[in-house]
Amino acid sequence: MTEAKKLYIKTYGCQMNVYDSERMAEALGGSGYVETQSPDDADMILLNTCHIREKAAEKVYSELGRFRTLKQDKPDLKIGVAGCVAQAEGEEIMRRQPLVDLVVGPQSYHRLPQLEAKAREGKKALDTDFPVDDKFDTLRHRPKAKRGPTAFLTVQEGCDKFCAFCVVPYTRGAEVSRPATRIVEEAQDLVERGVREITLLGQNVNAYHGAGPNGGDWSLARLIWALNDIDGLERIRFTTSHPNDMSDDLIAAHGECEKLMPYLHLPVQSGSDHILKRMNRSHTAESYLRVIEKIRAARPDILLSGDFIVGFPEESEADFQATLDLIEEVEYGYAYSFKYSTRPGTPAAERAQVDEDVKSERLQRLQALITRQQRKIQDAMVGRTVKVLFEKPGRLPGQMVGKSDYLHAVHVTDSSVQAAEIASVEIIESGTNSLGGRIVAR
Ligand code: SAH
Ligand code: SF4
Ligand code: F3S
Repeated sequence: MTEAKKLYIKTYGCQMNVYDSERMAEALGGSGYVETQSPDDADMILLNTCHIREKAAEKVYSELGRFRTLKQDKPDLKIGVAGCVAQAEGEEIMRRQPLVDLVVGPQSYHRLPQLEAKAREGKKALDTDFPVDDKFDTLRHRPKAKRGPTAFLTVQEGCDKFCAFCVVPYTRGAEVSRPATRIVEEAQDLVERGVREITLLGQNVNAYHGAGPNGGDWSLARLIWALNDIDGLERIRFTTSHPNDMSDDLIAAHGECEKLMPYLHLPVQSGSDHILKRMNRSHTAESYLRVIEKIRAARPDILLSGDFIVGFPEESEADFQATLDLIEEVEYGYAYSFKYSTRPGTPAAERAQVDEDVKSERLQRLQALITRQQRKIQDAMVGRTVKVLFEKPGRLPGQMVGKSDYLHAVHVTDSSVQAAEIASVEIIESGTNSLGGRIVAR
């Protein structure tokens, strides 16, 4: 028997990249690779990259430079770049960085075994096609090994919305939904392997409209109801949603579907209608707030999170103030905020840019407000009893950590608690990034 080759994958960017990295490791498993946690003993290094902001894309080149000595010591080492930077600038990477043997885009990684074989022959291998064949069909047979209690599952990919700042429609391609039966099968398989919580992924996950088993399209809500019937699956989440695709059946599911968790990530980007229009978001601040109102009517205790961009071209102080006002009104449990970053090829890159200093100052003010809200919502959990799905041991002896229904990190000190267990926990303290509690019922 030949010794297994070692694969080191480093993942950047969104949750979909995390999922893709798992699938890439599985695809290369068929070529005799097992995963390693260190680049030093790897026979192949794959960087699964993100192109969303300039900083994310730049990381790739500096990371690649660090592998030079590794490759000098081990000439057989193959280095590959996957993900959204590979899609956007694959050929340029090959030109700029001769260390790279292989480039593969997010829609063609099912062809990794062939690309790896080509690289082994000493040839450069590049595939950034948007093939018509479904990569998930090729990758259908997954290993049966046990795994941790939470998993991601891609149900929809790509985006047709073309927000003026965003590279995703170019790097991931057009919106495609996977057939519902395949998703249900994959979920069942994950549950058999020990998974109790599944997060459904899509760049526009709530625009999901996959083929149902007897023809016709299934909505995301319909899919969630089908997953709700899987014994052993305890929790369902989904991300990321667009405000315009929060359909009534999905909102209703938040009130009625027992396994659907009370947490929703609903990015708005800005609170100014002028900026929203220039962003090509096709919603207003008001229409976003109406959606939130409906969701809260269906599920009053839902925890909301959002994404914000500050310093988008033409953003005035008054536009920025409108964003702060919207945040005040919504009260977010979490939020992710970014300085606008010009991305080549997107419409907003051509426009008059806001000063870097102004962006930094606005980001600080926005983050201060968000931190206050986050803190307030987190502190209000003290005294309440929540369900926690435990995932792994914490930093201190006897400590276990997991997530509440609302996605707050919760730790308890109780050595009888096992990973993958769901228990009722009374929250007794609120720390910087997590809540502390004690088990009240198993
Ligand atoms: N599909 C999701 C998420 C897209 S990327 C959605 O539609 O919401 C995640 C977040 O990155 C976005 O919500 C946005 O806030 C941010 N982002 C995207 N492009 C950006 C850019 N050019 N500069 C700064 N932030 C950006
Ligand atoms: Fe990007 Fe907008 Fe599509 Fe989200 S909806 S992926 S922000 S283009
Ligand atoms: Fe980044 Fe691509 Fe995800 S650009 S955020 S890895 S879809």
